[in-house]
Order: sequence, then C-alpha cells, then structure tokens
Amino acid sequence: MAPIAAAASRYDPSQFNKNHTAYTAQGNLTVSRENSEKAKYPEFLPTWNPNVKYPPLKFQSLDDKGVYGDDGYSSLLEHAGNGEYTMKNVTPKFGTEIEGIQLSELDENAKNDLSLLLARRGVVIFRNQNLLQKGPKYFADWSRYFGPLHIHPTSGAPEDVPDLHVTFRGTSKDELESAFKTRLTNTQWHTDVSYEKMPPSYCFFSVLQGPESGGDTLFADTVEAYKRLSPEFQKRLQGLHVLHTSEDQAHLQRQQGGFSRRDPVSNIHPLIVEHPVTKEKYIFLNREFSRQIVELKEEESTFLMEFLYNHIESAHDLQLRASWEPNTVVCWDNRRTVHSPTGIDESATDEFGNPVIRFAVRSSPQGPSPVADLQHFNDPHYLGELYLKLGIIPKHL
Ligand SMILES: [Fe+2]
Repeated sequence: MAPIAAAASRYDPSQFNKNHTAYTAQGNLTVSRENSEKAKYPEFLPTWNPNVKYPPLKFQSLDDKGVYGDDGYSSLLEHAGNGEYTMKNVTPKFGTEIEGIQLSELDENAKNDLSLLLARRGVVIFRNQNLLQKGPKYFADWSRYFGPLHIHPTSGAPEDVPDLHVTFRGTSKDELESAFKTRLTNTQWHTDVSYEKMPPSYCFFSVLQGPESGGDTLFADTVEAYKRLSPEFQKRLQGLHVLHTSEDQAHLQRQQGGFSRRDPVSNIHPLIVEHPVTKEKYIFLNREFSRQIVELKEEESTFLMEFLYNHIESAHDLQLRASWEPNTVVCWDNRRTVHSPTGIDESATDEFGNPVIRFAVRSSPQGPSPVADLQHFNDPHYLGELYLKLGIIPKHL
C-alpha cells in the first residue's frame, strides 16, 4: 500500500521515544547506535519515518488458503529433507511442533497445507528454520501468499519493508525495569490487531535475538473454550457483537513518544465466529482491543466479557506455551487463538547483569472478515445496520 506522504524532513529525535535515537542513512529514525551495534540481524531493525502516513484499510474480498490444503498435508510433508521429519502434538487438541521441514522452501501447495494445519491445530512451532536468515524482504514476500500483509499502525519496520512488525527491547536497564513498574505481570492476552475489519488470519513470528530463557508466548484455544460452554450458554452468545478498537493502543503509543502510521479505527465483529476452513465456532474476544458487547448494557457487557476472559485465560488445559529457541518460527491462526507474552524477568541478563536485547519480527497476512455465519462470507456490508445504529462510520468501505 502506498503511503500518503513521503519523508520530507529530518526530525529531532529528542522529541520521540528515547530508545530511537539514531538515524539510518536514508534519514529514518531507528534504535540507538549502541543497540544497533549489538543487533544480530541489523537488516531487521525497526525504523520510523514520522512523515509517512497510511490511509485507512479498505475491505477486500479474500480467500483462506486453508480451504485448498490437503487433508493429510501431503505437499507440506514432501518438503522434509531426506523424507525425515518429526511432527508431534504439543497438547492432544492444540498445537503441533515440527522439525525437519524448512518453511523457506514451501511451494504454494505446501503453504495451503500449512494453512489447513494452522486452522485445525491453532499453533504450529517450527524449529531450526532458515527463513529469517534470508532477510526481511524474503520473509515479507514469503508471507504475502497467505494474504495482503498488514501494516501495523504504530510499530517500526525494517527499512523499505513496511509490512513487517518488529518489536525491539534494548539493553537499557530502564526498559527492563519499566516492564513491571506499573503492573504485576506482563501477561496481556490478545488477538493481533483484532480492531481491523480484516484482522490477520495467520501470523508468522520469530525471535531474532533474545535471552536463553524467558519471554515465552502463551496461546489459548478459543475453539475449545467455546466447546466447553454448555449448549444453553452457547445459545445465549449467538447474535452478540463486540466493539474492537485501536484507540487505546494509539494513545499509549503517543504517550510513549511513538508514531502513528495510520489513524486509529474501531470495528464490530461477532462474538462467536464461524471459521472459514474448519467451519468450527470460536470465541472472538480479547482484553487488549475488545471494549463492549454492543447489544448489552454496560454492566452486563462487562460481566459477560470478564466471565469469558477468565474462562479462556485461566483454563490452562486449553493452552500451550511456546519457547523461543534460536531459529524457531511460530505460526498461528490469529482468529481461533489468543496469545500473551510472558515477562522477561531479571534473569534475562548477561553475566555482568546487563539486560539482553529482545528483538522479534512478525508478518501478519490479513484474512477474510470474521462472520458469525459463512453465508455472509466476504460481504463488505456485513453488519452495516449495526454500524449505523451505533453511529460508527466504518472506515473500511
Ligand atoms: Fe501479539
């Protein structure tokens, strides 16, 4: 997507986040020289051009590659080197771990199989991958097959590859300490950018550089969470819709001296969504971006959302924990899961007690807009009357 305006002038970095204190050769802001010198994958370092703004995302009719996948994943498994691979369930119903297949080598059929596997299993962990070593452009192009890549409204991106999402925690002790300054935990359950009309279907994430332990990612299975509810309770949830918004994320970013690449948006999605590949229902709700069940009064909405959050977040028997070994790529179906970081505590330091860089990258192909019933699949005017009733002007049309 073309930006609205190109870079025109240099910025005084002192106005912005104190961790972004250096310029690239192209004149964009990036992390401090001290941090960039320690970065193992400098080509992935986040950059910001404060002059670049992107227009609101528009509705697109999209397919889900999972529907073209082979039931037995034959093309994916054909990519095992010497025919040898291991594929094991992380839990009986949720998550699969694979060794012996290189994501970077997958052709379109194998990517279709991967999509189907993700839709069914929620999370797939690939070890010993070379995908990221091929650079940011390769990773973005590789990911684009699954859908148009989401450009994050606030985060930094590798220079000239705006459609990757990069997180970078440097070695300043302030950064490590600030994690627990105002909260007891870093746990933050969410679905990535659920506030978009067309949130990412599948996400691909790798920690490029990080401590030996700490910073695992938790995942919860919202298909299973829905199945565990009694039939009467399930019935009551049908027909309800949730307002998701990026307003708070944008506000926090401004407070921290960050940038906004696209104006914040609010969108409505069904509370219970039908998956376009598996046709299973899942609960589509997350603490980070969901704000209200729009058919209910405020107290009722808060009560019901809290119940569902607690159900999903406290049922450890529908969750898994992914650890970040070097060259691990974790892929997930961003619709039928929620995930959370875990904190990096003071053990994430080197032998001198200095914090270790944590540097990660994600690609996020957008998927079809979530619907409660697949008869509305790819309908741009879906929920139009609800938007009108609530006085929200949809930016996606
Ligand atoms: Fe996330």
